[in-house]
Amino acid sequence: LSANSPAPAGPCVGVAVVGTGLAGRMHVNGLRLLPQARLAGAVGTSFAKAEAFSRQLGLPRAYRDLDELLADPAVQVVHVCTPPHTHIELVQRLAAAQKHILVDKPIARNVAEADAMIAACDRAGVLLGGLFQHRYIPQALAVKRAITEGRLGELYLADCYVKWWRDDAYYAASSWRARWRTEGGGALINQAIHSLDLLQWLCGPVLRVSGRVATVAHAIETEDLGVALVELAGGRGGGTRPALGVIEGATAAYPGFPERLEIHGTGGSVVLDEGRRRLEWYLRGQPPRIEEEGSPQGNASDPAAVSPEAHAAAFADFLAAVRSGERPAVDGREARRALEVVEAIYRSAAAGGTPVQLPLAPLAQ
Ligand SMILES: NC(=O)c1ccc[n+]([C@@H]2O[C@H](COP(=O)([O-])OP(=O)(O)OC[C@H]3O[C@@H](n4cnc5c(N)ncnc54)[C@H](O)[C@@H]3O)[C@@H](O)[C@H]2O)c1
Repeated sequence: LSANSPAPAGPCVGVAVVGTGLAGRMHVNGLRLLPQARLAGAVGTSFAKAEAFSRQLGLPRAYRDLDELLADPAVQVVHVCTPPHTHIELVQRLAAAQKHILVDKPIARNVAEADAMIAACDRAGVLLGGLFQHRYIPQALAVKRAITEGRLGELYLADCYVKWWRDDAYYAASSWRARWRTEGGGALINQAIHSLDLLQWLCGPVLRVSGRVATVAHAIETEDLGVALVELAGGRGGGTRPALGVIEGATAAYPGFPERLEIHGTGGSVVLDEGRRRLEWYLRGQPPRIEEEGSPQGNASDPAAVSPEAHAAAFADFLAAVRSGERPAVDGREARRALEVVEAIYRSAAAGGTPVQLPLAPLAQ
């Protein structure tokens, strides 16, 4: 993808952004690469901030409030780039106003909220998408193909490691991060969820988890360290027994290491180093192969170090769905999957590591 790609057939889609922070900026930078997207404007909690954001990023306008955005006929799609506790109300209002909606991860604080959002969009007949841009990294797509084609054989071990570092200033600068009420969790729901989603997409669905969480390196309410033993159906579903694996998610691993997945099956092993954009193949009967493509990401220690290409690929898929009326690759139900795994880990951890079965039963009221 590049700014010079030919514009695909069909009219441009008007897109507005809600939330003028770090994610909002990443969305604008990704949308800019897409000739089929026409950036309409942005709204935040303060008009002055939204104006400054729009001016700085070259958007045609800022909206005073959400009502002004909802009334703009130039907007067909809205990207929700606000803290997780705000997602449900925003999605309900946007759906009622007939806007298609793409919500950044985590789609919500918990599956009950995600279900309400999915139902609201179904009722209104609008598309709901979630953003998991790691699914569009070329190396991740190559692993997906290999598993689907059976080249890794029956999977028996699949791990994801997100050993990142965030300093105290990162948490101190935010009123919503690392609080149960506003974020719904910590390192697992925020940082590790991308790789956790890849693990479940490639090797899932997840059948059972046994989790532990801890807060070890920061004065925060939620976890900066989470570990889970998982059982996975094995991607292709052809296996006779579930694959076992480990999920590790941390913002307490100084100085921060590139996140990676390690997958092993009867056909061999693959190591997907998402952070370094590096893929190592160790297939039985073949010489080892190492592929590197794309620029390494500095996200392990710097929240802003994300390049826009994977975002753009995810947005292109959603815009294609808006234009065709078909399901986007990561719709609300698909984005809910990783959230369900995270919630299962939290429920298990709250019960001292007792295994929790998926799909999750609704919590008793
Ligand atoms: N996909 C990714 O790689 C990625 C990267 C960063 C953040 N995120 C996600 O994006 C979301 C936002 O994170 P962030 O880092 O941009 O946070 P942030 O604190 O930098 O920015 C959030 C913005 O939302 C605004 N806001 C809050 N409530 C609002 C409301 N009700 N209406 C309009 N605006 C509102 C705030 O004023 C702020 O400008 C989170 O869900 C986060 O997990 C995803």
